[in-house]
Amino acid sequence: MIEVRGVTKEYGEVVAVRDVSLEIGRGELTVLIGPSGCGKSTLIRTINRMIEPTEGTVEIDGVDVRESRVEELRRGIGYVIQTVGLFPHFSVRENIATVPRLLGWERERTERRVMELLDMMGLHRSFADKRPRELSGGEAQRVGVARALAADPPILLMDEPFGAVDPQNRARLQEEFYSIQKRLKKTVVFVTHDVEEAVRLADRIALMRAGRVVQYTTPERFILEPAEAFVSEFLGIEYPLRLLGRHSVADCYRKDAAPGDTPGPGQAVPMDTPTREALSLLVASGQKRLDVVDSDGRVVGTFDFESVLGLLGGGPGGEG
Ligand SMILES: Nc1ncnc2c1ncn2[C@@H]1O[C@H](COP(=O)(O)OP(=O)(O)OP(=O)(O)O)[C@@H](O)[C@H]1O
Ligand SMILES: [Mg+2]
Repeated sequence: MIEVRGVTKEYGEVVAVRDVSLEIGRGELTVLIGPSGCGKSTLIRTINRMIEPTEGTVEIDGVDVRESRVEELRRGIGYVIQTVGLFPHFSVRENIATVPRLLGWERERTERRVMELLDMMGLHRSFADKRPRELSGGEAQRVGVARALAADPPILLMDEPFGAVDPQNRARLQEEFYSIQKRLKKTVVFVTHDVEEAVRLADRIALMRAGRVVQYTTPERFILEPAEAFVSEFLGIEYPLRLLGRHSVADCYRKDAAPGDTPGPGQAVPMDTPTREALSLLVASGQKRLDVVDSDGRVVGTFDFESVLGLLGGGPGGEG
């Protein structure tokens, strides 16, 4: 667990971070979001001591980060940034192996790990011999993530890691990263100013403004109990719709079908359809309800506007 307690960072007159306290649970993905200059990068960098707070403390598993040697601390914390920061004269293999090399891993173990990570990140193994300049933006980001994961650190800090990637590749990277994260269960602090990205990835979101954390809670709670007007303004009018993308029809349909029911004449939605898409289908159908079908095409229940309200109002799956 990461515990940020009363952290303030001043640069002369500028207060970049102002009295921030956050508890980040083990295995959770916390997103720091907020307008440019609100202190996200400054805050995330106090965790691996790239920045020393003016006041306050950061603890990891109950130990003040100032008590660890900086090199040791950083080996337990993967760090990915927007500009990737790959070493240009190193091959992809050497880049990924940065921390294993520092740790003195044997060649074979390192090579196995490099290949494993290339596979995991969906990069062809032959990429190991490329130089960073021979990679596309999205590929370079993948190598950046692979490098951060190399020594299997329990914590990952990611500062706008997909910021420089075009929207389509970005969505794909997010999806891949999401499923990798579900498997590896790292404790992740992820900075973005993209609400869509935050909603896709976050277990919890810390919304920042002018150095402060305005609200820190689950994505669902931001709708139910926004702390102040700025929250709704920043998240935007489509936030509830974006939130629906986190759930599928399976989370919210009404189980009211009798065994053996076959779909009616209208359109049917498979259970694994994201709720946002199902809502779009419902609106397009001009009907008040759609049949929900399982993978064998059997009707299992109903999807309607009430299903959606159940989700957003803290019904089934509404409280994440
Ligand atoms: N080394 C520094 N010296 C002086 N001021 C700084 C320094 N680093 C950051 N700041 C200021 O502190 C504030 C917070 O900066 P920070 O980089 O944390 O913002 P951010 O939320 O990451 O912004 P962005 O979304 O643009 O990356 C800004 O006003 C910035 O100008
Ligand atoms: Mg920043």
